[in-house]
Amino acid sequence: MAISLDELMATAREAGRGAYCPYSRFRVGAAVWAGGRIFAGANVENASYGLTMCAERTAVFAAVTAGATRIEALALACADVPEGTDRSLSMPCGACRQVLAEFADPAIPVIIDCVGTFTLGELLPWAFRLR
Ligand code: THU
Repeated sequence: MAISLDELMATAREAGRGAYCPYSRFRVGAAVWAGGRIFAGANVENASYGLTMCAERTAVFAAVTAGATRIEALALACADVPEGTDRSLSMPCGACRQVLAEFADPAIPVIIDCVGTFTLGELLPWAFRLR
């Protein structure tokens, strides 16, 4: 099955509806293409704030635990970015970029809703790698 980046983004937008974010009220949805399938995720917050899990890592971990350890694209959608605000609000955090780099080549597309498409290498040059 061929990758459809439009479908990947549609899945990311839909996934944001499943966010658990009573503290930030900032819904994030992500979808990755891996092993010929789409895996979705949303952010899941915790009263102990540091335990919060981002949408991108939720999606990446769903793929990896299903055995799909090579990620070929990621789409990201933040539903609650106010119109006209800084695009930085829509960008993936540094931790998620590093986690993605564990399972993806620098050339893969990272598609960010209302912002554009970047390669992972553009978002995280010189990622830390042990192998
Ligand atoms: N968040 C993500 O899901 N992904 C990111 O890359 C950045 C931030 C979530 C975490 C938290 O639930 C909310 O957005 C506000 O930081």
